[in-house]
Amino acid sequence: MGSPQDHAYRLLNEYANGFMVSQVLFAACELGVFDVLAEAREALDSAAVVACLGTSSRGTQLLLDTCASLKLLKVEVRGGKAFYQNTELSSAYLARGSPTSQCNMLLYLARTTYRCWGHLAEAVREGKNQYLQAFGVPSEELFSAIYRSEGERLRFMRGLQEVWSVAGRRVLAAFDLSQFPAICDLGGGPGALAKECVSLYPGCKVTVFDLPEVVRTAKEFCSVLEEGRIGFCEGDFFQDPLPEADLYILARVLHDWTDEKCSQLLQRIQRTCRPGGGVLVVESLLAEDGQGPVATQLFSLNMLLQTEGQERTPAQYRTLLSSAGFHGFQVNKTGAIYDAILARN
Ligand SMILES: C[S@@+](CC[C@H](N)C(=O)[O-])C[C@H]1O[C@@H](n2cnc3c(N)ncnc32)[C@H](O)[C@@H]1O
Repeated sequence: MGSPQDHAYRLLNEYANGFMVSQVLFAACELGVFDVLAEAREALDSAAVVACLGTSSRGTQLLLDTCASLKLLKVEVRGGKAFYQNTELSSAYLARGSPTSQCNMLLYLARTTYRCWGHLAEAVREGKNQYLQAFGVPSEELFSAIYRSEGERLRFMRGLQEVWSVAGRRVLAAFDLSQFPAICDLGGGPGALAKECVSLYPGCKVTVFDLPEVVRTAKEFCSVLEEGRIGFCEGDFFQDPLPEADLYILARVLHDWTDEKCSQLLQRIQRTCRPGGGVLVVESLLAEDGQGPVATQLFSLNMLLQTEGQERTPAQYRTLLSSAGFHGFQVNKTGAIYDAILARN
């Protein structure tokens, strides 16, 4: 037990060095440490990992030991030599071959999000995203900055898909959606949530609506199209006609936009939504007083750095939805990263 000053100083150091922990995770993932260990039938020592990765002995040893202390690897010392294996966490989420791998999301965080966060002070000063400062691209059209190259768009889409492979079921089960046979996932990206939706609700069909270049790529991701139960429709949800549906899903879409643009989109949905239909908003919700959870506050700063939007409280979503003509507002705080709100037309 240290003094309160010791505690404060420890906390300060933990926060100050937090970025190093992220970088250990990103580097080990990028180098393929977890893939080599997943493929090996036994625990490997550092020399064996070096031989597979072609990395330096010194750097690899340091990285492996740090991963072990962070519980990203298991270590066993035999005859004075350390042998490493994946933990449950790394087998499930960090090995590329795992169906729940989050590697693309981590690479996106490492190569894009991290670079934007280097400009947080400027973002706070200016109140706007930092694509120009981080990548030299202006962000007048938000998604042309986000999709500034084919590779970048692919990484973003794969990352989005990976999150729903783990968290999708929980948000879709937050309400009984079986009453909505025709569902439209607006800004549905690679169709990952649509895939979870048709598997959870056998009676429903989902149309994924997104920008043309995204739909082109999404069709490759979702090649089977779940026996005709997932369709794609390309367009701009601020301008083009929206597909008719009983339920519109907006997952991680409203947080990209200003209140004005959210209202514009919700009004368009309300005009197209069948009577008795609804809208399902999937977002990470702030506490009503804005004081937490810290993960959502960090997401909100991330929205400042990378988009035009922010994370919101349930009351802020209620205002947006009710002024667009929706009612019967229900919130389900799932206890996981993402929450769900259902409102009716
Ligand atoms: C943050 S992503 C969320 C994707 C998906 N809903 C998810 O949760 O994984 C926002 C999505 O909105 C799409 N989008 C952005 N602007 C759009 C527009 N004007 N019309 C249609 N889709 C748009 C993007 O291409 C992207 O797929």
